[in-house]
Amino acid sequence: MKRVDDFRLRLGGRELVPIITGGMGVDISTAELALEAARLGGIGHISDAMIPTVSDRRFRTRFVTDKQKKYKYNVANRDKSGIHFDLGHLAEATRMHVGRTMEAKKGDGLIFINTMEKLTMNNPRETLRVRLVGAMDGGIDGITLSAGLHLGSLALVEDHPRFRDVKLGIIVSSLRALLLFLRKSARLDRLPDFIVVEGPLAGGHLGFGLDWANYDLMTITREVIDYLRQEQLDIPVVAAGGIFTGSDAVEFLEIGAAAVQVATRFTVTHECGLPEKVQQEYFRANEDDIEVNLISPTGYPMRMLKSSPAIGAGIRPNCEAYGYLLDGNGNCAYIEAYNRELDQHPEGTEISVRDKTCLCTHMRNFDCWTCGHMTYRLKDTSRRLPDGRYQILNAADVFRDYQFSVDHRLAVPPEPVAAQA
Ligand SMILES: Cc1cc2nc3c(=O)[nH]c(=O)nc-3n(C[C@H](O)[C@H](O)[C@H](O)COP(=O)(O)O)c2cc1C
Repeated sequence: MKRVDDFRLRLGGRELVPIITGGMGVDISTAELALEAARLGGIGHISDAMIPTVSDRRFRTRFVTDKQKKYKYNVANRDKSGIHFDLGHLAEATRMHVGRTMEAKKGDGLIFINTMEKLTMNNPRETLRVRLVGAMDGGIDGITLSAGLHLGSLALVEDHPRFRDVKLGIIVSSLRALLLFLRKSARLDRLPDFIVVEGPLAGGHLGFGLDWANYDLMTITREVIDYLRQEQLDIPVVAAGGIFTGSDAVEFLEIGAAAVQVATRFTVTHECGLPEKVQQEYFRANEDDIEVNLISPTGYPMRMLKSSPAIGAGIRPNCEAYGYLLDGNGNCAYIEAYNRELDQHPEGTEISVRDKTCLCTHMRNFDCWTCGHMTYRLKDTSRRLPDGRYQILNAADVFRDYQFSVDHRLAVPPEPVAAQA
């Protein structure tokens, strides 16, 4: 009976444990979490979602406060098109988040950054370019392009000295999306170094419609692997979404996936950025407490706990401070939805917006409880403490459980010493 540890991911002349922790914005996949995966010989992702916000929290910089001060005059204005990111600050925040993480790296693994195209920041091209360049300058080992088709992303950094040295990959949810990307990258003579196939059970935004349940990861992964074989393209394929046990992972490695990307099981670890109160919500969740809805202003469906405070909240758009989802014209679907409610309730009290959410603010405050489909099984990976809470796990234990477990077994942590007494 095979274990994940019987396989290796070969990438850029290295042999890695084929376990990748997925990017989880906003700072849910912290540097600490990514560093643990790298220390244990796998790949850990940090995320580039709302990096100035993350930098302020991590390094006590003042990027958000400064931006908020600069645009304070605009708070009551419905028009947010005049709000812009300072590209110098964005570059500095990215270099700092990445650079300090890379400095702390130990072990044989790698650190990648998840870079989302949908963070359009009222200047899609330039802000994406700055984030990609900042990550490369900061010494990142690899970049995983996500939340978008990224048809122009590689061209943004083709002149960077590290363009052929940094591992560049993309997340796709269909062979069709991959073909579009490959056509573009062939023009730059720069094929991706890896491809993440993310299925419908993942957390965060999904590359599927509300009919996500009609798709399955195994089928899509096989299609992608078959296509690459047929074209004699030797690009490692990484399967992601709903892989909960080491044995689940082995099933993908046996059909030719080079690695798995996993996230949900790490959401309840000490190293994860979620506050413990939210982690306990994840532990307690049952399958029918989780939904895929359309409240994200990005237009992509998103999976989350139905009890997320972000659902139905009616806060004033906070673009002066954040504004990460403003499109190229300074619009965001939440602003429209909020203004519609404001027009219907001019007295302005207790506004509730059901169809969209202010994702920036709610992700910043950990009030949008996005999660993978398998979250309802997290309780099987921990033990209940006498006070009713579940024990928070160590990332290294979860990583090793994926690496060595057989028979779909799930490791449960030993009883804490205090509880034994
Ligand atoms: C809480 C949470 C947040 C996530 N945020 C992001 C994100 O910001 N960007 C992204 O590309 N993927 C995101 N994902 C997807 C993961 O990186 C990963 O590919 C996927 O969830 C793996 O499936 P699993 O959670 O079932 O292991 C998120 C997943 C979770 C659980």
